[in-house]
Amino acid sequence: MKITFANLALPSKGSIAIGVMEERKLLKLGKQLDRSVGGLLSSAMASSRFTGKAHQSLSVFTPKGRVVLYGLGKGENIDELWAEAAGGNIRAHLAGSGESEVSVVFEGHPGAGKEIETRAARLAYGAVLRAYSFDKYKTKRKAEDKPTLKKMSVLVEGHAKARARFKDLSEIATGVALTRDLVSEPPNVLHPESYAERCKSLKDVGIKVEILGEAKMEKLGMGALLGVGQGSRRESKIVIMRWNGAPKGTDQQPVAIVGKGVCFDTGGISLKPAGGMEDMKWDMGGSGVVVGLMRALAGRKAKVNAIGVIGLVENMPDGNAQRPGDIVTSMSGQTIEIINTDAEGRLVLADALWYTKDRFKPRFMVDLATLTGAMMVALGQQTCGYFSNDDALSDNIAAAGKATGEAVWRMPLGDEYNKMMDSDVADMKNAGARWGGSVTAACFLERFVDGMAWAHMDIAGVTWSAKDKPTVPKGGTGWGVRLLDRMIRDNYEA
Ligand code: BES
Ligand code: MN
Ligand code: ZN
Repeated sequence: MKITFANLALPSKGSIAIGVMEERKLLKLGKQLDRSVGGLLSSAMASSRFTGKAHQSLSVFTPKGRVVLYGLGKGENIDELWAEAAGGNIRAHLAGSGESEVSVVFEGHPGAGKEIETRAARLAYGAVLRAYSFDKYKTKRKAEDKPTLKKMSVLVEGHAKARARFKDLSEIATGVALTRDLVSEPPNVLHPESYAERCKSLKDVGIKVEILGEAKMEKLGMGALLGVGQGSRRESKIVIMRWNGAPKGTDQQPVAIVGKGVCFDTGGISLKPAGGMEDMKWDMGGSGVVVGLMRALAGRKAKVNAIGVIGLVENMPDGNAQRPGDIVTSMSGQTIEIINTDAEGRLVLADALWYTKDRFKPRFMVDLATLTGAMMVALGQQTCGYFSNDDALSDNIAAAGKATGEAVWRMPLGDEYNKMMDSDVADMKNAGARWGGSVTAACFLERFVDGMAWAHMDIAGVTWSAKDKPTVPKGGTGWGVRLLDRMIRDNYEA
């Protein structure tokens, strides 16, 4: 969808979206518009349940075209996130309406305060995020089922400023869309080899891309990651992406983001049940966030040195697959007894984290992984549980979560949990008892960060959505790109 910004005025053609305060109160331009169509807006409101409550919407057909009335409520909650949601909702309201363009009349409501341009930019951003769709495999969609809305103009005082604000946001949205594309692709198309290949396109935006194959990983001693992939016909890969955005001459230590990229998780020899197994195509969701985040950072030319590392494998049952009972040696030298081949994500991350720490000595590492079903049991699909050994890093994640509306909740680590991962025959085992499964998984990962500031985000519940949300259409959510981009922007840029 194309976005433009222009001066605040009533447009002379095309559909219009305009805010209404609670108790059906039109603002200045709203009143003017209502008069120009003989009071149709007022009478439509009077004969409907539309009262102007926050996020209500009503289409009114006038001789001048469609007018979408949008509820502002009492106006007191209208902040940046509110505006994003409104943009998403307006987009959804009109997506398949037959309208091809809409002008959003962004009048400041009484008490709107300053920085209305920022909210106008956020509204456009929300609309773009909601307009995402993944339909490349639908060959039979009829024209009348396709979205019609192609263009949104946001009319606001200070439109030049709004346009400038939107620039970076639009780059972030591009990153989110890339993540959504990756998690939506079917596993026959997106496997470790093709995925690594696809990452090379990031070179176009100035990211350095390096790929490690199995031979190189064997030399490095990555027995944990390689064990997971050994039952697959596809070669396991590690992709290293580097964005060097810190100003020349500054000697900025990089930040590092690491992602689980299990392109398909059958469970391996500890095979998963058939029902819902197709969901395990998005078991590469963590890696997808890393790729989308790198795209976002490069797109908006973030003044940061950032490393993205993703471990790409396919977890398959096979004559050559890893067995429960196997003992593997990780790059760190620590040995791991495989109890359950379905606890594979932590094995991939163990080597990816150690490698990242060893080679880049970053300021901190954050990993993202669709790691445990237990996290979905704990927090559902609304909130991502995260773990950290560093309070400052943890606070930064929490603040960015608040700022972006991507909700997070800190979970505990601790010796008692950690002990549950000790093995009788090796340094540790890859699966512990049933209870506290997300916590013990995080404790396992902590054994591979060597005391470095680190956080682990278990995104199992938030990576895929079965229903539409204001700025997230159902399907792959791209959850985490916005949060981490914001976290880096607010704390780690020069
Ligand atoms: N990829 C799964 C976790 C998962 C499940 C993510 C459902 C999203 C939705 C992970 O590899 C896994 O299988 N974890 C096991 C760990 C157990 C064997 C210790 C789990 O959660 O059951
Ligand atoms: Mn698994
Ligand atoms: Zn998995």
